[in-house]
Amino acid sequence: MSQALGYQLARAVRDHRGRVLLAEGVVLNERMLHALRTRGYRSIYVVNPLAPDVMVDDAIQEQTRVHAERTVREALRRTAEGSPIDTRAVTSAVDAIINDLHGNPDVVFSLATLRSVDDHTFVHCVNVCVYCLILARGLGLDRGDLRRLGAGAILHDIGKVRYREFVDRHGPLTPEEFELVKHHTTDGYEMLRRQPGIDLLSAHVALQHHERLDGSGYPRGLMGEQILLFARLAAIADVFDAMTADRPYRTASPPHEAMAAIHGMAGQQLDEALVRHFTRRMAIYPNGTIVRLADGRIAVVTGQTEAGSGFPRVRVVADEKLQLVKPFELSTGAAAQVAAVLADLPRAVRTQLAKSAV
Ligand SMILES: [Fe+2]
Repeated sequence: MSQALGYQLARAVRDHRGRVLLAEGVVLNERMLHALRTRGYRSIYVVNPLAPDVMVDDAIQEQTRVHAERTVREALRRTAEGSPIDTRAVTSAVDAIINDLHGNPDVVFSLATLRSVDDHTFVHCVNVCVYCLILARGLGLDRGDLRRLGAGAILHDIGKVRYREFVDRHGPLTPEEFELVKHHTTDGYEMLRRQPGIDLLSAHVALQHHERLDGSGYPRGLMGEQILLFARLAAIADVFDAMTADRPYRTASPPHEAMAAIHGMAGQQLDEALVRHFTRRMAIYPNGTIVRLADGRIAVVTGQTEAGSGFPRVRVVADEKLQLVKPFELSTGAAAQVAAVLADLPRAVRTQLAKSAV
């Protein structure tokens, strides 16, 4: 994140209540970066000076996300207290997500996964819900099914309220703690099936989202079709979001790495057809990603194309000798392929930029 010094913030940073801590567009100074680090942020979105018009995409609207995170927080708080969940609020949050996705003409999606390490649980629950509903597109589910899937997905980890002391701690779990936390599946199921207004199918998402096709999952070691479709969807969403999240003890994997890892699990642990479906729907190189093309040129991803998630539209900004060029757009494909994802513009390019700005 120290690389962000002097860059403009591309997306507002909010606290756990949804209040804006730093507005979009501010130029980041040392004090702001320090404050963000103290609050548990490990990464942020900055404006690329060579592609300032490229927006960070989120499959859902910001207000939908803020509202959904608040709803999850409230549901978890009530559950921890032993009081009933406001299931109407959950349904309305899920409905807003379904509506946003429905109204989104994109064929390939990405999520803005900005989160502090402390807000991890709420952001994770909302993201798993969004990924599940993206995955559900094209599976022929009706509105009622989408609601049941969404409610189960957004509450899939609710059983973790019993294990907050381990889950919220800033470190990996010991094997004994891990064994204990596995019970969040059965606990979540028990909590949800007793809630009026929550379908039993939704409760099963909490119960089965850690089951794996080859029987290696938990709590019951179910295999193949014994695992419900909703839970097979949630498993993919859960793994993908966990990998792309910063945790106190490890940094996030970029989407292309997480996707490769998920591919490695397809057919054994995860449903192969659904993984293929997910790959087609999710941007492997989200807008704003800095890439090196196979011929050595440096480019910024500016959009997604019908050709699929691995072939974005890019803007070439530097040649193979890392000399700045007049930017021009290009569709990646057979002729121009993405060879690598870069965390930042190469130093040589940044130096030229700094000079040209003086
Ligand atoms: Fe879980």
